[in-house]
Amino acid sequence: MNVLVIGGGGREHTLCWKIKQSKDCDELYAAPGNAGTALCATNLPIGVNDFEGIKKATLTRHIKMVIVGPEDPLVNGIHDFFLNDPELSSVAVIGPQKEAATLEGSKAYAKAFMMRHNIPTAAYAEFTSETVREGEAFLEQSKAPYVLKADGLAAGKGVLIIDDLATAKRELREMLLESKFGAASNKVVIEEFLAGIELSCFVLTDGSSYLTLPMAKDYKRIGEGDTGLNTGGMGAISPVPFLTDEFREKIETQIVKPTIEGLKKDNLPYKGFVFIGLIKVGNEPKVIEYNVRMGDPETEVVIPRIKNDFLAILQAVDEGRLDEIDLEIDPSVAATVVAVSGGYPEAYEKEKRITGLDEQKDKMIFHAGTKQEGDDIKTSGGRVLAVTSFGKDYQEAVEASYKIISKINFERINYRKDIGFDL
Ligand code: AMP
Ligand code: GLY
Repeated sequence: MNVLVIGGGGREHTLCWKIKQSKDCDELYAAPGNAGTALCATNLPIGVNDFEGIKKATLTRHIKMVIVGPEDPLVNGIHDFFLNDPELSSVAVIGPQKEAATLEGSKAYAKAFMMRHNIPTAAYAEFTSETVREGEAFLEQSKAPYVLKADGLAAGKGVLIIDDLATAKRELREMLLESKFGAASNKVVIEEFLAGIELSCFVLTDGSSYLTLPMAKDYKRIGEGDTGLNTGGMGAISPVPFLTDEFREKIETQIVKPTIEGLKKDNLPYKGFVFIGLIKVGNEPKVIEYNVRMGDPETEVVIPRIKNDFLAILQAVDEGRLDEIDLEIDPSVAATVVAVSGGYPEAYEKEKRITGLDEQKDKMIFHAGTKQEGDDIKTSGGRVLAVTSFGKDYQEAVEASYKIISKINFERINYRKDIGFDL
């Protein structure tokens, strides 16, 4: 079958790399893709939210399955767009429909879902411009640090964790009254602060049964020792070394099962990935957030550990027979290290020539912000490459990735030297 992967980051390169290995994959396309997806797929210059452009490509290229990488097109209803179009309705779309995608598109919606289905999460309250004074009063009664979340999608920047009350109140007013995050902060969720170690849980569901994929831990801060600004992710490790069988069981029974059951009870059709951001508080798992897609860079460690034919799994998702699949997971540890442009996540320069890739074609070097220009591969984004390696433990895996990355260069390349430092 012909397959289209929507998106153009490290997650999408990894998905293309894996799907290309499937026996049922004929032509593979990526839209818009990057210089990495071009190694295993045909890139189509179509934006992720250009539904008409995606429709045209789907029809002319006889695409039978569309895998949606990022959240934006899902929240904008790409799955519904396919279902509602007679020419497209038979095409398999991996990714939830618009209503269920609201689990990522609205923090308040996700919180209400968790409350309704008794899924452990931080206590919260929500406020709008009309209830700004109540919001300030709520902060006065709360304990620091204060967690303020823009309700809508804010490109990963909408969560503020603030130590002092006056700043928290000012930020709340700016979010609600001055549209600090645009329409995304028309509503604000204020949450109890949870202290603990975070991990990412990935679930693939056909709406009825589900598979829990390998869990992972990502490193979001730019600086070593988890300091500095938040980024899209500087590295990841899978499996998570501190995860005991007992804790895994708690995640399964208290969080994963009730989430999938909740989708069913709420009549929310869901064929796709659920990414549950968790925090381990004491010995209890709590949900920090839902995402309706795979994580990036977690995909770069989770997907390589799956031994099955991945397209066969996705076909089972589409056909509602995921219960027939036995997941086979590589017991080795996978680690990925992300190389970023100097200055990222603040202003950075692009168009830097990348060297050291040709000599290491056999390695798992997943491209994120790259583009082909003539014979050169150049940087085109903040996160540039994610280098994944396997090891018998995370130290060995991380070391192997550092060895590969040390042979790659572009002007002002930056990467964290301490992935896994906290384990
Ligand atoms: P989110 O976009 O909801 O994943 O939040 C971004 C990051 O903020 C998370 O990965 C956590 O590190 C942090 N965070 C979110 N909510 C809380 C909370 N209630 N307590 C502590 N940290 C939080
Ligand atoms: N690595 C976090 C995310 O994909 O949102």
